Amino acid sequence: MAERPVSTLNKPDAALELTLRPSLFSEFTGQPKVKERLEIGVAAARQRGEALDHILLSGPPGLGKTTLANILAKAMGASFKSTSGPTIEKAADLAGLLTNLEEGDVLFIDEIHRLQKTIEEYLYPAMEDFKLDIIIDQGPNARSVRLNLPRFTLIGATTRSGLLTAPLLTRFPVRERLDYYVAEDLHKIVVRSARLLNVEIDEQGAHEIARRSRGTPRIANNLLRRVRDFAQVRHDGRITGTVADRALAMLEIDQNGLDEMDKRILETIVLKFGNKPVGVNSLAVAVGEEPDTIEEVYEPYLIMEGYLQRTPQGRVATELGFKTLGLKSPSRGQTQMDLPRRD
Ligand SMILES: Nc1ncnc2c1ncn2[C@@H]1O[C@H](COP(=O)(O)OP(=O)(O)O)[C@@H](O)[C@H]1O
Ligand SMILES: [Mg+2]
Repeated sequence: MAERPVSTLNKPDAALELTLRPSLFSEFTGQPKVKERLEIGVAAARQRGEALDHILLSGPPGLGKTTLANILAKAMGASFKSTSGPTIEKAADLAGLLTNLEEGDVLFIDEIHRLQKTIEEYLYPAMEDFKLDIIIDQGPNARSVRLNLPRFTLIGATTRSGLLTAPLLTRFPVRERLDYYVAEDLHKIVVRSARLLNVEIDEQGAHEIARRSRGTPRIANNLLRRVRDFAQVRHDGRITGTVADRALAMLEIDQNGLDEMDKRILETIVLKFGNKPVGVNSLAVAVGEEPDTIEEVYEPYLIMEGYLQRTPQGRVATELGFKTLGLKSPSRGQTQMDLPRRD
């Protein structure tokens, strides 16, 4: 399989994220509506001297869910305890987390859609009534004990809110969805990150990185770092428009910001499947990627930008999708195939 130089661009880098992650609302760029609603929630809760309501943050990876959860806790002056859905293996793990919370604390559960159903059920009374029912002993001696919990705030993050069960979803009074960032906001993020990383960058350089970052701050930061390396080794260290353009071309990120996997997905649909609707599993096998990653990372952006369309029968490339591959777009009749393919 061909090398995939860019597939790591939306992977968190702990050290980088620590340096660049905004810790205040005022440093958090973009998502104005979400930000405004959350800031009001914080101000109101603080005025009343209460804990913040439970909040669910959803959206594709790298858009700022973890960042916002941290900002919220800090703005509340609350301590932040972090865990993730798949790491909570037993009900006792959850009980341990919950009973260690103090009044007003924020418990952050990342990838909350991956919480086991049995564990999820313990969360319901904890979220709603701040009670935890635990079973002590086994067999005939088993009995349920009800513990009171402090009023805490649960912040859940998910890339797939559609996979959340209705009972869990409805226990979040506040639900916010983060969207891909507009280039202008990414531009500001790139300039801020460059300042923090001590890299010299001009307007054109920042513009080039911003518009080719798939609307994603994490990708913008990761690209900035790669472009910085390139600027340092091949040029004088300064990131200009030309330097950024050359570096991004070397990383195989095209003029529209599509990376190698984006292209491979489009190419596979068009060439291998003849643009007949294809299901995510067949597509995943054909491109050598996890179905989840295709649905969470690649598809949303390709659909939003109009390269890909999702029909009830499966995915098909649009005219723009054909164009970006340098192929002649098919006539209308050909995009809607008469023989739908199913998974
Ligand atoms: N609104 C923003 N302003 C500035 N930087 C941001 C913003 N959102 C995200 N980032 C940057 O992108 C990185 C990834 O964000 P993160 O919160 O970890 O995304 P998620 O949890 O949604 O995957 C952060 O470390 C931060 O540096
Ligand atoms: Mg995160």
